[in-house]
Amino acid sequence: MKLLNPGPVSMTERVRRALASEDVCHREPEFRDLVASVRRRLEGVYGASGFTPVLLGGSGTAAVEAMLSLVGKSETSLVVANGVYGERMAAMLKAQGKAHEIVAAPWTSGIDLDAADRALASGKFGHVLTVHHETTTGRLNDVAALGAIAKKHGVPMLLDAVSSFAGEEIRFAEWSLEALAATANKCVHGAPGVSFVLAANAALSRPSGATSVYLDLSRHAADQAKGSTPFTLPTHVTRAFDEALAELADEGGWKKRHDAYVSRSRRVRAVCTELSASLLLDRDDAYGATLTSFRLPSGKTYEALHAALKHDGFVIYAGQGKFDGAIFRIAVMGDLGAPDLDRLAEALRGALG
Ligand SMILES: Cc1ncc(COP(=O)(O)O)c(C=O)c1O
Repeated sequence: MKLLNPGPVSMTERVRRALASEDVCHREPEFRDLVASVRRRLEGVYGASGFTPVLLGGSGTAAVEAMLSLVGKSETSLVVANGVYGERMAAMLKAQGKAHEIVAAPWTSGIDLDAADRALASGKFGHVLTVHHETTTGRLNDVAALGAIAKKHGVPMLLDAVSSFAGEEIRFAEWSLEALAATANKCVHGAPGVSFVLAANAALSRPSGATSVYLDLSRHAADQAKGSTPFTLPTHVTRAFDEALAELADEGGWKKRHDAYVSRSRRVRAVCTELSASLLLDRDDAYGATLTSFRLPSGKTYEALHAALKHDGFVIYAGQGKFDGAIFRIAVMGDLGAPDLDRLAEALRGALG
């Protein structure tokens, strides 16, 4: 079965073998060395200096929520949203009892840069939060433009890079980034269960704004700096993550992976549009490399399409919220070769033709 949902992704045999490796205690030196290796490799993906990788046991949501412990308890944040995941960051701030305002754009639009500029000019916001690749639609948000605005107003950015880290360009300094959150099991091609935050060293030395014991980023960072972890990390998943990061480097790094995704997505878009499944977003270049959202052709249901493709060995993804039943999504992360794409094209022709 090939997973074309936006994570977890189909893993290579190399990463799968690492999952079945020997048992290890998370308090032993060999696990400390493994965590150090993962953190070194994470630093190397974009080579950003002055940022510390912090590993967490949990899905991407855990990393995003832990990242928000960098927001002080008495500050006000601006959330710039255009989909499920941006709106979820606002929900997290609400759950943490932290003041925030939201600049929300329709889900099929880009983030509202003018409104963000006007809001940040007020000087009342301590952080600006947004999503890099909004998986709800597949749009790659213009974080470069928002980052330039944030920089102009001297406001640091917290970025949900859960479905873009290792698959898209990220410019730490130019985008006013204070931290980003991501996960092992999307563009890095590891197994689900470990996520991480890359946070500026200066941010980690401020008093923590944590409102939870587990998701206190500074506590994880402090323990990991001493070669320890506060809680039990999923040991086998961590080893698979290390292997996936090694594989990413062996394959030429994030740029090579991005280029591969671009060419896979181009192929998928050509086949689907030929079969009357039009793009949800108005322009082809609004999409990132990893995922495309399509409107279901009239007379076709998501359930029937999903079942037909699953029968042929592919799992696709439904629309979320207001898009449920109206669209389908195809992601191209993970172990997916040209023969798989040929088979997918045939399967799509069978289901939609
Ligand atoms: C942009 C983005 N943020 C956050 C998440 C949440 O990640 P998880 O489901 O691993 O908690 C996802 C999941 O797809 C995502 O795409």
